[in-house]
Amino acid sequence: MSSAPAPPRPARSGPRTHRLKAAVVGTGGIARGCHLPAFQQLAAEGEVEVVAAVDIDDAAVRAFCADGGIPHPYTDLARMLDEQRPDVVSICTPPTLHREQTVAALRSGAWVWCEKPPCPSLAEFDAVEAAEGAEGGPYAAIVFQHRFGSGARHVRGLLDRGDVGRPLVAHCQTTWYRDTAYYAAPWRGRWATEGGGPAMGHGIHQMDLLLDLLGPWSEVRAMAGRLVHDVETEDVSTALVRFASGAMATVVNSVLSPHEVSGIRLDCERATLELTHLYGYENADWTVTPAADVPAGEAAAWRDFGPDVPSSHLAQLRELVASVRAGVRPRSSGPDGRTSLELISALYKSAFTDATVRAGEIGPGDPYYTALHGGAPGWAPV
Ligand SMILES: NC(=O)c1ccc[n+]([C@@H]2O[C@H](COP(=O)([O-])OP(=O)(O)OC[C@H]3O[C@@H](n4cnc5c(N)ncnc54)[C@H](O)[C@@H]3O)[C@@H](O)[C@H]2O)c1
Repeated sequence: MSSAPAPPRPARSGPRTHRLKAAVVGTGGIARGCHLPAFQQLAAEGEVEVVAAVDIDDAAVRAFCADGGIPHPYTDLARMLDEQRPDVVSICTPPTLHREQTVAALRSGAWVWCEKPPCPSLAEFDAVEAAEGAEGGPYAAIVFQHRFGSGARHVRGLLDRGDVGRPLVAHCQTTWYRDTAYYAAPWRGRWATEGGGPAMGHGIHQMDLLLDLLGPWSEVRAMAGRLVHDVETEDVSTALVRFASGAMATVVNSVLSPHEVSGIRLDCERATLELTHLYGYENADWTVTPAADVPAGEAAAWRDFGPDVPSSHLAQLRELVASVRAGVRPRSSGPDGRTSLELISALYKSAFTDATVRAGEIGPGDPYYTALHGGAPGWAPV
């Protein structure tokens, strides 16, 4: 298929009141497992209709369309954008294609919902942001579905209202296990094709949720290791992060951990808030441990998470569709969608240069702005 971006079109900005036309680009695992079911649910509710899908694999896109009841399969993104003029495009391709395909969709006037990791570098992310509409869209949001469950919403409320006091100490872990067969796929473990190691490809969800809950970070000191796998990237990293609020966190991202866990623990002045899960959570995966002097009635209210909305693509897509209809910037887009990529860029820079890296310091001219490996000897591709 041609990968050239569609030519610029007059912006289609402002509120959209009709049933939104959606298209899916890349019809592999995440498109089938999460995007299609989410779109189908919103189609059943009369919010959207999926009009097209695109994949360079003709058989794959035809099967995807046949299974999903989607009328128009394409192998050419530019042609699909031109002929179908979708309102929303979800990008479910490998990370190295995200910038080019997101910009093409934005330029056609579509709002974009792009899978994580957003792009392989901050420079590419900023190029996407520059292609967004000035006011009223179109905008490009990143898929960070862990922000959108009822558990995260409840805990964000406890933090934002000050109910549980100041956050002081946090732990964020993505300790997963991937065997050598997983890394036998030639595109894995390589900067150019996978984008980064577990800090980028696996841990980004928990780090993104940590930042969403605790707000801006101010400095990071990190280590990276290549302990087991024959990869260009790391297979484990550890980091110490200080937040603008003064809170301090440890962050561990591993693909070497037989007991697989994803988790966040926030020790606040009046309670410890914990999330323990693997690939997604529901309310029962969160615990609230009040300090000894918290009245029982108040603690009971903190433990009442309300109706359960598990973290999911559907939960985020609902909000995104509402944003498209209202013509307002969706959460997880622009500066709000950039935070975890900036922390990861800083984590790699700190690990590879043995230095403390401060928020905002990686910009144009910094080697870590254009490549997560920063050209570091021993880490950058030879
Ligand atoms: N949000 C999550 O929890 C989550 C989970 C898994 C994967 N992902 C992300 O989703 C993205 C896709 O992952 P996946 O596991 O579905 O991969 P996959 O390999 O199963 O699917 C990718 C698809 O993209 C197609 N493709 C490749 N080049 C293309 C092009 N130029 N134009 C159109 N289609 C093209 C491939 O043919 C393939 O069908 C990655 O960024 C990954 O990190 C996110």
